[in-house]
Amino acid sequence: MVLEKVSFVDKLPKKGSVIVGIHSDGSLSPNAKKIDEDLNGIIAKNLNKLKFTGKTLFKTCSFPLCNEYYNHLIIVGLGDPNREFSRVDFKKLGAAIYAGASKLDEDATVAIEASDLHIPCNCISSYVGFGALLKSWSFDKYKSQKDEKIRLQNLAVLTSDVKVSQECFDELQNLAAGIFLTRLLVSEPANVIYPESLAKIATEELSHLGVDVEILEQPAMEKLCMNALLAVAQGSANRPRLVVLHWNGGKESELPVAFVGKGVTFDSGGISIKPDEGMHEMIHDMAGAGTVLGLFKAVALNKLPINVVGLMALVENMPSGTAQRPGDIVRSMSGQTIEVLSTDAEGRMILADALWYAQDRFNPSVIVDLATLTGAIVVALGHEFAGLFSNCDNLAEQLSKSSCQTGENVWRMPMSEHFDEGINSDVADMRNIGKPNIRGGSITAAQFLKRFVNDKRWAHIDIAGVEHVSDGDLFVCSKGSTGFGVHLLYDFLKENYVGHK
Ligand code: BES
Ligand code: MG
Ligand code: ZN
Repeated sequence: MVLEKVSFVDKLPKKGSVIVGIHSDGSLSPNAKKIDEDLNGIIAKNLNKLKFTGKTLFKTCSFPLCNEYYNHLIIVGLGDPNREFSRVDFKKLGAAIYAGASKLDEDATVAIEASDLHIPCNCISSYVGFGALLKSWSFDKYKSQKDEKIRLQNLAVLTSDVKVSQECFDELQNLAAGIFLTRLLVSEPANVIYPESLAKIATEELSHLGVDVEILEQPAMEKLCMNALLAVAQGSANRPRLVVLHWNGGKESELPVAFVGKGVTFDSGGISIKPDEGMHEMIHDMAGAGTVLGLFKAVALNKLPINVVGLMALVENMPSGTAQRPGDIVRSMSGQTIEVLSTDAEGRMILADALWYAQDRFNPSVIVDLATLTGAIVVALGHEFAGLFSNCDNLAEQLSKSSCQTGENVWRMPMSEHFDEGINSDVADMRNIGKPNIRGGSITAAQFLKRFVNDKRWAHIDIAGVEHVSDGDLFVCSKGSTGFGVHLLYDFLKENYVGHK
């Protein structure tokens, strides 16, 4: 169940629970101070009893208020009083507040204002609502018994400028709608999401918002000689699709920004079949394509004045009598030949054709691809950071800046000749996995992709470790699919192409 309503108010409503803050030095936020004075030091007494200090950022505690107006007080740790709070902090604050307040089964009001933290802009208040909204999402559509513990329905946020806060929130709510779409699609199992059904959802979700959705079926892809993508698809009864999304919000003369997503709706490994353990997680192997779709929803809902194209390369990777074999050699759309040494290195093969097609057909100013490409990136960066690879320092810096501004962490990884040589083949132009003595599997994968972008400004984000969390509290999401990348790339577009924020 998603939080039903977030509103902005300039006076504290006299009901439900109220949320205030405390810093590590014991200083209370202004509204907390007021309540403490009105109620004879009630906060100080309770904090002592609960041994709660404000040292741990965003840790919460709550206690009942013996007061005719409010039922509970929720206190949030705000850490160092000199800390400069950012939008990411406010997003995390909102998520923490949601987690604390939803246990209490009553409406809640956040009484921590931007000005309390010396921030002049009221827009930042909207990030509290955004964080709470993101945190409230869960994937429970197949559960007959919904989780009754989560019951916060209305969250109000105190602000000195209701209009500005609400306007900023309207945009963030649309962004959240995109993130929720990504989370939903990535969570859905592979018997529900397969190339055909995902292509249909793209049309249903986006056409009415003004996105032009073009769907290439197998014959069209054959005509284009997308043999690398088709080789992966040939083992499955589910036929592939290439979905092309066009958002033309900018001037006709402006070159588009292109996003390409790996959409393997299930990755069994093919003939190089994966071990049984954890194979079910490969229902998430379309997260790159799911992110592109969610991003387009956010862009279209907010009518960004830019031109964007999105490509979702959709296949299922299965072993069967028609499946490709280790040792096969295929000629990709670019004309370059690939020796398939592992059918489990399928993501790079479908992206090879999708990337080539993107640069060849649209001449984009930049291409960013997203893919759950390698297990090796999870070994290198865990679940906190996605791996960022790029042939352009400036583009890598732009994406890193957006990463800082959104809290969706990326870490730039190196690329080099050494790794490029490691994918040369004796019998074809390249092999789809590195030679045995070449380690750094995420880098060889990125080098492989680089051969298909024809020197265009390009970045590849390996999201294998971050698209879902099995526990913990990453990316303002409790458990399950994170929707990683939608906020990051939305910010990247706004920051670099819209001209103002
Ligand atoms: N989809 C996987 C990568 C993956 C692994 C995503 C773990 C999420 C979690 C990809 O298609 C794959 O199988 N990669 C292989 C490449 C290898 C054969 C060179 C891998 O990482 O093991
Ligand atoms: Mg694979
Ligand atoms: Zn895969």
